[in-house]
Amino acid sequence: MTSDRIRHAGLAAKVTDAASAAALIRPGDTLGMSGFTGSGYPKAVPVALAERIEAEHAAGHPFRVKVWTGASTGPELDGAMAKADGIEFRMPYNSDPIARQKINAGEMEYFDLHLSHVAPMAWEGFLGHMDVAVVEVSGITPEGDLIPSSSVGNNKTWLELADKVILEVNRWQSPALDGMHDIYYGTALPPNRVPIPLVKPDDRIGQPHFRIDPAKVVAVVETDAPDRNAPFSPPDDTALAIASNILDFLTWEAKRAGLPPSLLPLQSGVGNVPNAVMAGLIETPFEGMTAFTEVIQDGMLDMIEAGTLRMASATAFSLSPEKAQYFNENAQRFRDRLLLRPQDISNNPELVRRLGCIAMNGLIEADIYGNVNSTHVMGSRIQNGIGGSGDFARNGYVSIFMTPSTAKGGAISAIVPQVSHVDHISQDVQVIVTEQGLADLRGLSPKQRARLIVEKCAHPAYRPMLEEYMARAAKGSYGQHAPMLPGEALSWHQRFMETGSMQA
Ligand code: COA
Repeated sequence: MTSDRIRHAGLAAKVTDAASAAALIRPGDTLGMSGFTGSGYPKAVPVALAERIEAEHAAGHPFRVKVWTGASTGPELDGAMAKADGIEFRMPYNSDPIARQKINAGEMEYFDLHLSHVAPMAWEGFLGHMDVAVVEVSGITPEGDLIPSSSVGNNKTWLELADKVILEVNRWQSPALDGMHDIYYGTALPPNRVPIPLVKPDDRIGQPHFRIDPAKVVAVVETDAPDRNAPFSPPDDTALAIASNILDFLTWEAKRAGLPPSLLPLQSGVGNVPNAVMAGLIETPFEGMTAFTEVIQDGMLDMIEAGTLRMASATAFSLSPEKAQYFNENAQRFRDRLLLRPQDISNNPELVRRLGCIAMNGLIEADIYGNVNSTHVMGSRIQNGIGGSGDFARNGYVSIFMTPSTAKGGAISAIVPQVSHVDHISQDVQVIVTEQGLADLRGLSPKQRARLIVEKCAHPAYRPMLEEYMARAAKGSYGQHAPMLPGEALSWHQRFMETGSMQA
């Protein structure tokens, strides 16, 4: 019997089991899957597909597919399919440990790109052809429109581009999600592109449901399974110190620039430090704030309930299991406070610049001149991907990057002579914060930036080493604009790889 979530007779007639749906996927297919930061990804068909791939491999038949998503998904998708060695190519963002291991072992190709770029690039044909979309929704209307799930991501684009569509209808998702989405259908390609008519984070510019040609739907699978939610651990002293430095800066900046009590729309990366910033904002005099961001995390729901955050616009939820449960039970309360949009709108550079977002993101390492590496450990080992950090960092009102000053128990300095990989050039990095302090780099020359970053952000165990490097670079450098010693700039990374520590 089909559930009351599928109210279109034609699509109800296509209900089948996950194995039958997975059987419609061919070796070599390019799949557009839903899913963003562990929310709204398909949970049954990828598992059935992974089982099928394992059986084919056991029989000696090659079977791998290309997987495109919104961002990270969950163990039932990336985990299961990577474990089955079923993914030949993956984009645009991954945080699954098994997939990460395959990528870093050179066994899976991975294309990591700005999340706002994915849909336009797919439309422009840069990425190739899409065979099958596998998309989780929370329901189907009597008219055959699709009620989106806990993430929107690239689903609108995948539903339009794919030859065939497999739907998963997940009744675990709250029915109150219906109405929280804003799906914009005005993104024509250049030269026919027109301005996106959004001037405030709460503007609705689209419609609540996805359109779909029912003839393209080849299978509908019913599920009742929770999203993969990262557990919440309370912020430690380092996270609290970083958050406190950011809150002091925002208070000072609001006064300096005459910003309103609602500040400017917040963008916040995921993790414990951003959650600690959100918790701290509840205690500040700011009020009526908004978020124009990529994901809605625990701290933002707390801010909404405390009355400090008026509304949040994003493309997905990224909640702890407890908060996800709480949201599902109380979704009605958040209905007019949250809006989920396609990721090419939530992260759109045109909108981020227009709204003047306060961008706050994590980093792996920064160098003395303020270039930031968000993605590659020791220059070569991918951690996750650039995600939306570049969309917001280049275009926001101010771009803040945060990190503990050391990693791996102090064996690694987060502030280095030169980053081993560049995601954000120094021009896109205006503020760097660690638990040691905050460096406001706006308007400073490279040498001024270097002095401030080392003084304010470096760990005391590494500060003398950085000062010594800077002094020697000032003497031995080819030029004096941004002094460097090319033979030495990456020697800290080499030392770590050889000895397990950057300490000399
Ligand atoms: N060298 C080596 N490893 C480092 C490191 C460094 N300089 N800095 C951090 N790491 C390691 C940590 O040790 C940890 O490893 P583990 O999982 O083995 O314990 C891992 O990287 C994650 O670091 P953590 O300190 O837990 O930070 P985080 O969870 O806040 O993640 C980023 C930091 C940079 C990886 C994360 O913010 C990210 O993926 N950013 C890019 C995408 C992004 O910004 N998205 C938001 C846009 S909306």
